[in-house]
Formats: sequence, C-alpha cells, structure tokens
Amino acid sequence: MSDRQDERRPETALHARREGPTSGKKVWFITGAGRGMGVDIAKAALAAGNAVVATGRNIDVVSKAVGQAEDLLVVKLDVTSRPDAEAAVRAAVERFGRIDVLVNNAANFYAGYFEELTPEQIERQLATGLIGPMNVTRAVLPVMRQQRSGHILSISSGAGLMGFEFNSAYCAAKFGLEGWMEALQPEVAPLGINTTIVNPGFFRTELLTQESTTYAEPSIADYAEGHAARRAWYEAQNRQQSGDPAKLAQALLLIASQEPPPRRFIAGADAIAVAEQKVKDLQEQINAYRDLSTSLARDEVKGAEDRR
Ligand SMILES: NC(=O)c1ccc[n+]([C@@H]2O[C@H](COP(=O)([O-])OP(=O)(O)OC[C@H]3O[C@@H](n4cnc5c(N)ncnc54)[C@H](OP(=O)(O)O)[C@@H]3O)[C@@H](O)[C@H]2O)c1
Repeated sequence: MSDRQDERRPETALHARREGPTSGKKVWFITGAGRGMGVDIAKAALAAGNAVVATGRNIDVVSKAVGQAEDLLVVKLDVTSRPDAEAAVRAAVERFGRIDVLVNNAANFYAGYFEELTPEQIERQLATGLIGPMNVTRAVLPVMRQQRSGHILSISSGAGLMGFEFNSAYCAAKFGLEGWMEALQPEVAPLGINTTIVNPGFFRTELLTQESTTYAEPSIADYAEGHAARRAWYEAQNRQQSGDPAKLAQALLLIASQEPPPRRFIAGADAIAVAEQKVKDLQEQINAYRDLSTSLARDEVKGAEDRR
C-alpha cells in the first residue's frame, strides 16, 4: 500500500501495517518533546520500535532533539492552543492511522509565594499544566473512543500529591491535573481507554532553567526571607537532580506495556517518600477528628444506624 493510500484510508492502512496494540507496536503522541523528559520518552518509544508523534512549540527544536527516524512525525503543538491540538491529532491520524499512547508531558514552573505570583502568572501556570493536557486529551479522545482502546499518561509531580511552600501555582495545576485524570478514568474505562498519573520526583531535565521556570518578583516584605531562601534552593537544584530521565522513559515504556496499565506510577525514591508522607498525613487527619466527623449524619439516619 502506498503512502498516498495510507493518507486517504488511515484506519485501514494501520491494520494493514499491523501497528495496533496487538502487534506490540504502538503509536505514541508526546507533548513537549523538544526539551527535557519528553525527548527521552520520544527516543525510548522509537528505539523500542514504536511510531512516535513528537510535538512541541518549535518543530525545528523537536526535530533536532529527537533526531531522524522512519516512524517519527514531528508536529507543532502549543498545548495552550486548541486549534494546534486538533491539527496535531489530525496529522497523527493521517500519518499513522491511530493513537495508542498519549503522553501529556509539557509543562513549565511558575515558582513563588501565592501573593507574589500575579494572577496572570497563575493563569499561565494553569494554562500549560492543567488546561493544556485537557486540550490535547479532548482532541485525542474521539480517536481513542473510535478505536475502543488507548492509554492516556499524564505527567503530574510530587507536587500533585502534596502542597509545597513556593509552589502554590504549580501545585494548583498538578492537583487539578490529578483530580481531572482520576475523574476521567471511570468515564473512559468502559470505552477501553486506560489512564495513568505519573508522579516524578526530581529528574535532571531543563525544568529548573530560566527557559522553564519563572520566579515571582519579590514584592512583599513578609515573604522576603522565605522567597530568597526558596529561590536559592531551587536554583541550586538545577542540574543536581538525582533522577535520570532516560531511565524514567524506559520505566514509562514498561508501564505502558502492562495489561492493564497502573492508574498511578510514582517515579523515584523521593516521590515515594512524598506519597508515603501524604498517606500518613491523611490518616492522622482522619483519626484526629473521626468522632466529630462521624457524628454529622441527620438524627433519623443516626437513629436507624443505632437500631441496626
Ligand atoms: N524534572 C522534574 O524534576 C519534574 C518533576 C516532577 C514533574 N515534572 C513534570 O515533568 C514534565 C516534563 O518536564 P521536564 O522536567 O522535562 O521539563 P523541561 O525540561 O523544562 O521541559 C518542558 C517541556 O515542556 C514544553 N512546553 C512548555 N510549555 C509548553 C506549551 N505551552 N506547549 C507545548 N510545550 C510546552 C517545553 O517546550 P519549549 O521548549 O517550547 O518551552 C519543553 O519541551 C512536566 O509536566 C513537569 O511538570 C518534572
């Protein structure tokens, strides 16, 4: 079958090329594949014999970062743009006929105290970290629903599990991402679509460089000391993170190959420590006010419970 025919009959073309999940070869669609862990995920997926749609705001940067490969399609996608998302998904389906794994990876980091972050900075954080993944997923879901298969992996963070000082905007985006993903899971599971939230700890990418991190302007004396200390700490972490994004990419390949894939993957010993602390905190918070909490039912409900 010629490439031209592939373009006209993508779904038939795909079955003819046996690129569906049954053959083990999948079509990965990755956001933010020009820098950071998106590059490693794209390279790992290609090296494992998959087809990859590597997307980013600048396709030259993505092409240079990911390199050349027969089963690679590079497409422009700013995740804050719904038209970009729709066009990128169309291009992916025209080329490969399907999308098996969506990786919502692209994000940035607006760091600072809530009151020092401007409302516009918070909106930009939510636009890339929360609304962006929603835009791309909204464009991909009709394809996955038609296939009655697919896997949506969204990269959250330890900051999607626990609130951290100086991270109020980033945590808001990542907590939002988690709530949305957890609610999406039962909506799409009956349609054969799986979801996985990934919580990485610190990985050595470009997230803490000035290309990806924007610090709030120090403007409130009450926060001056904390702001200076937190900013110095984050700047010192840049290029010192212990996590290896190439290993994370390999782990995600394994996660995506599971039948069914896990709903959550906590990536890194530091991320596990955060998750365990969160579980402990929640249990303590439950226990501290269990009696008060369980005394809140209406009297007739409580009476019925007591009579049982
Ligand atoms: N590295 C860590 O320690 C860590 C920890 C926890 C979670 N994470 C999460 O991991 C994911 C990947 O981050 P990373 O560490 O690889 O960071 P990174 O090295 O800074 O890469 C971020 C990527 O996102 C892209 N991006 C930013 N805004 C975009 C937009 N509007 N549209 C499309 N692409 C956009 C960037 O592309 P441009 O070149 O166009 O800016 C870049 O390719 C993020 O979701 C991040 O929150 C990272």
